[in-house]
Amino acid sequence: VENTDYYRPLYHHTPSYGWMNDANGMVYKDGEYHLYFQYNPYGSKWGNMHWGHAVSTDLMHWKELQPAIARDTMGHIFSGSSVVDKNNTAGYGNGAIIALYTSASDKNGQIQCMAYSTDNGRTFTKYEGNPVLRPFDGLKDFRDPKVFWYEPAKAWYMIVSADKEMRFYKSDDLKKWTYISGFGRGYGMQPCQYECPDFVQLPVNGDKNNMKYVMLMNVNPGCLFGGSATEYFVGDFDGKNFTCVDDPHVPKWLDYGKDHYATVCFSNTGDRVIALPWMSNWQYANVTPIKQYRGANGLPRELSLYTKDGRYYVAANVAPEVKAIRKETKTVEDIKTGASVDKKGVAAGYDGAFEIEFDVTPAADGTAGIEVYNDKGEKTMIYFDLKQMRVVMDRTQSGLTDFGNLAEPHDIEKKADAARQSKGQQPMRIENAVNYKNDFALGTWAPLNLCEDKTYHVDVFVDKCSVELFVDGGRIAMTNLVFPTKPYDSVKFYSEGGKSAFSQIKVYKLGM
Ligand code: FRU
Repeated sequence: VENTDYYRPLYHHTPSYGWMNDANGMVYKDGEYHLYFQYNPYGSKWGNMHWGHAVSTDLMHWKELQPAIARDTMGHIFSGSSVVDKNNTAGYGNGAIIALYTSASDKNGQIQCMAYSTDNGRTFTKYEGNPVLRPFDGLKDFRDPKVFWYEPAKAWYMIVSADKEMRFYKSDDLKKWTYISGFGRGYGMQPCQYECPDFVQLPVNGDKNNMKYVMLMNVNPGCLFGGSATEYFVGDFDGKNFTCVDDPHVPKWLDYGKDHYATVCFSNTGDRVIALPWMSNWQYANVTPIKQYRGANGLPRELSLYTKDGRYYVAANVAPEVKAIRKETKTVEDIKTGASVDKKGVAAGYDGAFEIEFDVTPAADGTAGIEVYNDKGEKTMIYFDLKQMRVVMDRTQSGLTDFGNLAEPHDIEKKADAARQSKGQQPMRIENAVNYKNDFALGTWAPLNLCEDKTYHVDVFVDKCSVELFVDGGRIAMTNLVFPTKPYDSVKFYSEGGKSAFSQIKVYKLGM
């Protein structure tokens, strides 16, 4: 553990040095995926925000390039988005990449700026007329512009997170922006602050004649298990207003773990909608037990829309590109047990980087699960609890967790918790979590009624310091950091309250 790079993931993107938070400005052009990200090149804590840059042709192998947009006298370069300007609407040539980002400083507040690239996203020139947009009401939190082309109006639209609502703007040239409408006040999880919007179109149950819009809304703090997380809303957009199809006051979560935030999608990917989360939580992002660099992105996920019990939900399944890094396959024989079957060492020699895939039919009213563990007794448990109809990932004994005592919920979250306590109720993040010990040492869970039947397809990705769970093609996604002091190399399958069946079990070594 002395080696500060010990926890560096093998197959997830990380900066070689420095701090990283939100993936932002992601765009696909001419066979290249551009990943820009909130980056501090000078240290491993948040500060001096730049747009870092990495490119990939397969979403898995990332080549680090020079930071693309550097902090300047107007302030930090906060999150934003980029588009390919195919029709030269901005005047920098057909196919220029145009980035919209937030300049943030105490002096100027948060204002939206533009920069353009004519060398395939390598370097950007800041527009001399910046800023292109200020809040009309002096709002302090006004950031993370998401730009998209809306064909029916043949115009660009931009969504900006404006404290407790999202604001839509419209433009012909990506420079002059007109206010259109607001969305989301009082919706979803409260209290909170909205950040990093995205807006994508998806076919309902795969039917391309029935498209709906989905707004991704990243919310901090006050989420399900404390801190930050990604909500979404499904609805219709008429060029002016976005209207939800389901009750917008009931939050829907793109991921049920604690380390999935600022998630937005690549632009210009045709029919595919590929999302990328930052794998941390603002409660403890700055104090995770890493020194040299800090921050990793989750695996790319492909989004789709399905209906269940008359409501609309987004599935976030691991992108198929991830299959290409399977290096070795082990098949484990089917397991039927009322106790446990220990596959000790099944991932030995894999350096803590592997995938476990299986189908499980838990005992009726019982519990079936796996323990991913090392020989120091550190383990992450994933189990299906049919009594409570939920799937849990418990990291209370996963390895280092004490730094979670340092987690600092924002004032707004402390206030909400205090208000609940004064009414004799539990603080929210403590009440929702399983086995809450501190803001890191806890279990997160998702409702199993998002799935169709009681045999679940399970895909688990372990990479040094993270565990990502995908159930039934991403109907449930759950992303959590873990810090075992030795790589996990073993898996135990277990059942309680009756016999459970595990089948189609595969363990893959993953690597680059
Ligand atoms: C989300 C966020 C954004 C902001 C950026 C600053 O994690 O707070 O709202 O643009 O991080 O780094």
